[in-house]
Amino acid sequence: MIKHVLKAQQFTPELMGIIFKRASELQIVVDDARRHQKLGNLLAGGMMFTIFYEPSTRTRISFAAAGQHLGMQVVNTENAREFSSAIKGETLEDTVRVLCEYRPDVIVIRHHENDAAERAAKVSSVPIINAGDGAGQHPTQALLDMYTIQKELGRSEDLHVVIGGDLKHGRTARSLSYLLAKFAGNTITYVSPKELKIGNDIKTHLKERGITFSESEDLKAVLPTADVVYWTRIQKERFDSSKLESTFILGKDELRLMKKKSILLHPLPRVDEISAEVDDDPRAAYFRQAGNGMFIRMALIEWCLGYL
Ligand code: NCD
Repeated sequence: MIKHVLKAQQFTPELMGIIFKRASELQIVVDDARRHQKLGNLLAGGMMFTIFYEPSTRTRISFAAAGQHLGMQVVNTENAREFSSAIKGETLEDTVRVLCEYRPDVIVIRHHENDAAERAAKVSSVPIINAGDGAGQHPTQALLDMYTIQKELGRSEDLHVVIGGDLKHGRTARSLSYLLAKFAGNTITYVSPKELKIGNDIKTHLKERGITFSESEDLKAVLPTADVVYWTRIQKERFDSSKLESTFILGKDELRLMKKKSILLHPLPRVDEISAEVDDDPRAAYFRQAGNGMFIRMALIEWCLGYL
């Protein structure tokens, strides 16, 4: 069976445990020159295609770097919406069928349509990794988010997680909700402008899993009990945001309300929803979080290719 990475729900706590353990091993190996050299033999001769129809810095480059650290060749198309045959009217399915003819071992796709990764997987003869599909999901981000939470706080359960920002269009908030729902005792508070609330599909899923959640527009009231504050930007490219009345900005005053042993995460890119004045606060973990992404993606590539 082909091991695709399509949505957060597919990852059990056991599988997350295996991937997180490997990611932390890889982090040590990459930083050790001699062991790193050997690591490069593992997938030598392997080939990864990264096809990005939407902009990306972290996901695209960390995937490419992940493949190269493992010794793979990486063929990369950015701005595939304009620079690939998509602009001539080719379907995603046809593109994927043709790419498979070139014998990659894995294809990483970011696309602007919600079901793109699943459609690609249906016609692909190699693993597809969903690197973000429209306002749908971003499973590799959610895994690196959970990995960061586990690493920073030492646990994945019994957490109060405040997730804020554009929860209607933000795929990272959606995917993370699915993963948080896999662990006992987690509670989620969603904080967003009223126009940008989390989707009913997520709420239904949480209810089915018995996960306690609430929605709030009162940021200051929810911060003092948060273990994790997960902040996201307004997804301006997905709707007309000019009429938005209010957004939430985290600065020093807000961080003062947070517990000493808590963390502030953000999938990045940040615009102005977290002010740079809090970057030096030890609880601001978003750059460490981004760094964890490459190791999680290395472990995921190994998993897709049957090495884990
Ligand atoms: C996120 C995405 O693409 O959904 N970025 C990322 O991969 N870290 C978040 C965003 O664009 O707001």
